[in-house]
Amino acid sequence: MRIVVAHSEPGSGLAWRHELAERLPGAIVLVDPGTPDGHDGRHAAPAGFVADWAVGWAPPADFFARQPSLRGFFSSGAGVDNLLRHPGLPAALPVIRLEDAGMGALMVDYCLHELLRIAGRFDTYAAQQARANWTEHAPIPRAELPVGVLGVGVLGAHVARELARAGFPVRGFARGPRALDGVEVLHGPQGWHAFLAATRVLILLAPRTPETEDLIDADALSRLRPGGWLINVARGALVVDADLIDALDAGRLEGATLDVFRQEPLPASHPFWRHPRIRMTPHVSAPTQVAVSAAQVAAKLGAIGRGESVGGIVERARGY
Ligand SMILES: NC(=O)c1ccc[n+]([C@@H]2O[C@H](COP(=O)([O-])OP(=O)(O)OC[C@H]3O[C@@H](n4cnc5c(N)ncnc54)[C@H](OP(=O)(O)O)[C@@H]3O)[C@@H](O)[C@H]2O)c1
Repeated sequence: MRIVVAHSEPGSGLAWRHELAERLPGAIVLVDPGTPDGHDGRHAAPAGFVADWAVGWAPPADFFARQPSLRGFFSSGAGVDNLLRHPGLPAALPVIRLEDAGMGALMVDYCLHELLRIAGRFDTYAAQQARANWTEHAPIPRAELPVGVLGVGVLGAHVARELARAGFPVRGFARGPRALDGVEVLHGPQGWHAFLAATRVLILLAPRTPETEDLIDADALSRLRPGGWLINVARGALVVDADLIDALDAGRLEGATLDVFRQEPLPASHPFWRHPRIRMTPHVSAPTQVAVSAAQVAAKLGAIGRGESVGGIVERARGY
């Protein structure tokens, strides 16, 4: 088996190559020469190396033209929105994404941390500290912080279940009916309005698709419960930036925690950076765990070799 690793982040290509080679001793695993790690003398794929499988993130523009015999592309992330917009991606090439691979637990930690900050009024205390102001406030009871999780797939379901276990009232929203123990999942246009009306803290965990792009606009934000909060750990394009700022400025929304943005890195001139009601992190809520992820890819390649079906195959038409 011949595998080519094409990763746009320096260091990640060689890390993936190492972890895959460890787990697939019979395979030849090399790094694409058009990527930042592709100049390592021992591990760079020579010109003309034709692979059966590719693994990576944001491959170069000419990558697929140089790899005409691929049987599939394993995304080194859970989201495939960028890969599906790659102009060279062959229409019939199977794309397989990561399923949890350690990201679920990290996503739970991130969301729970933010909820506990909100409940404990830690932002208020941070502002008070800057003015040497000693004033106590009652914490917000968890029952008064109903959470809505948009997208209850692999990661969203994990987050929804764990937040419910931590004592927050939790609802989910998906495209169709879905059963999730301990969590009511709404769907459809009427379900959408009911979901928003019941939610005070809205967590976004749906993929970026034509349906979800700009979904969180002025109308959606205005339907949340008073004292609402937005936590976006999915993709920046789900949110209309100007509508979010308007909702915060008008006090219709109390705050927002943003991990993902339309443009990354976010330009220094963007108003999000300096907004007093926005807390930001640079797309770190659930980074790929290379060793766990490579083990998942190796296990799937083994299953495919035995003629078994595998999970995580992207439905190109629906966009995730
Ligand atoms: N910030 C980070 O570090 C980070 C890390 C990993 C992933 N992510 C993001 O998280 C997303 C979710 O990952 P995942 O592994 O949980 O994906 P997944 O298993 O494919 O789950 C996606 C969920 O979103 C729902 N959905 C899709 N379109 C929808 C729509 N129009 N309205 C309502 N729900 C919709 C799906 O509904 P159905 O159940 O009805 O199909 C499904 O429940 C990824 O696409 C990625 O963008 C971010």
